[in-house]
Amino acid sequence: MRRFVFVLAIGLLAGCAPLQNGTAMTTVIPAPVARVDGDGSFALAADTTIGGEPAVARYLAGALRTATGFALPVGDHGDIELAIGSAPAVGGYSLTVTPDAIRLEADDAAGLFAGVQTLLQLEHDGTVPSVAIEDYPRFEYRGAMLDVARHFFTVEQVERYIDDIAILKFNYLHLHLTDDQGWRLAIDSWPGLTGVGASTQVGGGGFAGPLYYSKDDYRAIVAYAASRYITVVPEIDMPGHTNAAIAAYPELGDAPATPYEGIDVGFSSLAIGSETTYRFVDDVVREVAALTPGPYIHLGGDESHSTTDTDFLAFIKRATEIASHNGKTIIGWHEMGRSTQLPPGTIGQYWSFTTPQEGAAEQTLSFVEQGGKVIMSPADVAYLDMKYDANSPLGLVWANGPTPLPEAYEWDPAAIIPGIGDIQLLGVEAPIWTETIATTDDLESMAFPRIAATAEIAWSPAGPRSFAEFAPRLAAFGKRLDAAGIRFYRAPEVTWLD
Ligand code: ACM
Repeated sequence: MRRFVFVLAIGLLAGCAPLQNGTAMTTVIPAPVARVDGDGSFALAADTTIGGEPAVARYLAGALRTATGFALPVGDHGDIELAIGSAPAVGGYSLTVTPDAIRLEADDAAGLFAGVQTLLQLEHDGTVPSVAIEDYPRFEYRGAMLDVARHFFTVEQVERYIDDIAILKFNYLHLHLTDDQGWRLAIDSWPGLTGVGASTQVGGGGFAGPLYYSKDDYRAIVAYAASRYITVVPEIDMPGHTNAAIAAYPELGDAPATPYEGIDVGFSSLAIGSETTYRFVDDVVREVAALTPGPYIHLGGDESHSTTDTDFLAFIKRATEIASHNGKTIIGWHEMGRSTQLPPGTIGQYWSFTTPQEGAAEQTLSFVEQGGKVIMSPADVAYLDMKYDANSPLGLVWANGPTPLPEAYEWDPAAIIPGIGDIQLLGVEAPIWTETIATTDDLESMAFPRIAATAEIAWSPAGPRSFAEFAPRLAAFGKRLDAAGIRFYRAPEVTWLD
């Protein structure tokens, strides 16, 4: 039935033709599932009306007003109609543009919001080319991660990053809230976590104001994300990466700790044999879960190099049991898959390389064997804090050296671990760690344009993917980034437009 409607819609477009690369200014990233271009275009004018689903209509009106300067009144119905109806598939939308009208249809507001991002990329100089698009995501989970522990980012900075990723149809923001260098979320039952525990960041303080989120701050981030149809995934990393917590509460560790401003990993561990540790886990996860409308809580589990194997397994069993009583699905970095006693359905996040390092594939498969799915974040292609090349002023190189833009594009999440294909994958995530990244400019110039590559891998149908095909579309997308004021690295592999 949907297919038939789509064919009808295409039939209404005179002289339809398949997408040509020459229509560079109106290409869309992530590439839609199906697009057929028509003749003519819809011209926006001061009295063009926008109607339908009110929240998304207001967002669209705001964005188009900025782009065109037109008033674009919002009402119950409009020349641009955002209709709740049916979608071609879960999370998707259909978009039909003719010279007379624009109609976007999806089965919920999130689907309309995704379609609006497509529409905004199609708009150029106040016109939208005639087109029929049917589109839906390959993966349900399309994530970006921000490390606010190594360097702290304010509510306003996080909200800006939320806006940045929303244009690429990301629907999850994973916040890495705790690490050796700082604990960034107020926990009422353990107030010292954001006292001593939040007193430093990499390189020291260097920041006016508290280096953590109050609960109201955090609620504001969650609400802002929700207004962009993005769900926040909080991460409390345990049992390693806990120096800040132990500096605040020495009883949480086997040895005292002091606030840490460096970038080493693997030197801290919670005290595995102490009941205080499990009271801490219970309190923290309960309070974080209460702040979390989304389905997931991330408990870390990576790089616990100062925890013995026996202790690690004992800790993961108890901590995940405690956490699962809060009604959330747990996510862990792939090392958590060393445990065969995870709560059923626990999600594994893979951060080894596109060629798995020893043990990583088995540990990731362990989540699937225990009824869970996998989020792919291969560090050598998906970590946005790797240098672009040896001369990049920011970034690190531990993940198999720099990650040039083409490498960030030409990989497939279903081709990394035998036995983990689309069915076993929840999705894809692009993390950005902030050892070297301290400002919004730093963040945007490391994330963009590589995050556009990850977005397409997460949303668009599986390859074959060629950077040569992607590059001209990215050049056009660069104009969008300029218009949005997003600072991006003009990677030399792309002929950027002036
Ligand atoms: C990680 O990069 N340690 C998840």
